[in-house]
Amino acid sequence: MSKTIDGALFRETLGHYPTGVAVVTAVADDGNLVGMVVGTFSSVSLDPPLIAFFPATNSNSFAYLRTAAAFCVNVLASDQESLCRQFATGGAGKFDGVCWRPGPLGSPILEDAVSWIECTFEDIRETGDHYIVVGHVHELAVARSTLPLLFFQGGYGRFSPGSFIATPDPDLIQAAQLAEAIRYRVEDLSSELGVNCGILVKIRGDAVQVLAANGGSVAEPFPLGHRQPIIPPLGAAFLVHSTPSEIEAWLQRAPEDGHSRRDLYRAQLNKVRECGYSLLLAAEPGLLQRQQAALSAFELSDRLPRHERAVRQATSELAAVFCPDLLPSERYDLASIVVPMSSRADLPPMAIRMTSLPTSVTTQQIEFWIRRLQEVAATAGRPSPKGDGDRYAKNR
Ligand SMILES: Cc1cc2nc3c(=O)[nH]c(=O)nc-3n(C[C@H](O)[C@H](O)[C@H](O)COP(=O)(O)O)c2cc1C
Repeated sequence: MSKTIDGALFRETLGHYPTGVAVVTAVADDGNLVGMVVGTFSSVSLDPPLIAFFPATNSNSFAYLRTAAAFCVNVLASDQESLCRQFATGGAGKFDGVCWRPGPLGSPILEDAVSWIECTFEDIRETGDHYIVVGHVHELAVARSTLPLLFFQGGYGRFSPGSFIATPDPDLIQAAQLAEAIRYRVEDLSSELGVNCGILVKIRGDAVQVLAANGGSVAEPFPLGHRQPIIPPLGAAFLVHSTPSEIEAWLQRAPEDGHSRRDLYRAQLNKVRECGYSLLLAAEPGLLQRQQAALSAFELSDRLPRHERAVRQATSELAAVFCPDLLPSERYDLASIVVPMSSRADLPPMAIRMTSLPTSVTTQQIEFWIRRLQEVAATAGRPSPKGDGDRYAKNR
């Protein structure tokens, strides 16, 4: 008698086993292209050369794919997540905009995949609610020796070598140097206004704090050097000079159900571009607390995908309190003001952020803070006026 296993527990437990991600492609017997994403691809035997993957018995894509004479397993690279999503949806249009060439047996080889393995069907065996498909390998090659896309706990990621040699990040070093050059200005502003001021740099998908001047009354929740994933609507200040593909990559970090909010995020980004700052209201403290709690759990968990999803969700909800229109007669509670810094192409995107602000402030007061932040931001990357060095030395 077999014990009943809870489905959720089964998925949860097996989801802790990481897999690579492959797209199995073929030309079906009616001449149409077919493809499906599998995480179940595996090497089976060297002699004879056999591989396997496990499609669900109810998979429409596989029902079609098995009519082909041959198929190709394309191992996806870490920068092919959007291609993966395109192939993981049901229905037609999976090959729209996809570059491919035919393999020796005619199956589509996808451009930019790490490797491809073209096979004929050796065996298709039904086991439980899946098939075990064994393929006989005819041709194979590594097309692009790069990092593969990985799937773990329902989220995508990439391999990071467990080397003890830390890779220096030139952007981070450059940003820290630039921040250091205007340190006293930021510190002066922080103590003069009684607020916290920090300089942040965008390193890949994260905002990293490289300078902190904590003259405010509330302690900063995250230390210097803290990395926070940039998820819409946050991070717009880093994207004011970005290319469409960088903006697309930012939008893709919104939660999957956030597609309906894409237009709102774009509009909010355009607003930040036009006015040169972003504001986050503290009006609904629950929203901010949830986002910070999700971020803390994400950090403590070594950035596991399930916690990343919680951060994505909680951050996207901040759209409701991001960049409001300021009315002259109103008073506001602000969580932060962020102003973009240098637009130099040789520097990473940077921003200066003000937090721990007094409550119930007027629009005039906010506009004054913004101007002061913009003045400091504008000095970044410029040569220091004479005397700055002395002053900095005195302050130490
Ligand atoms: C990372 C990832 C791995 C997947 N692995 C498999 C798999 O091994 N077997 C499978 O049948 N479906 C797998 N799927 C689901 C299919 O790619 C796809 O969603 C499904 O085939 C679409 O339904 P259809 O085949 O009925 O069109 C995976 C999806 C993702 C995103």
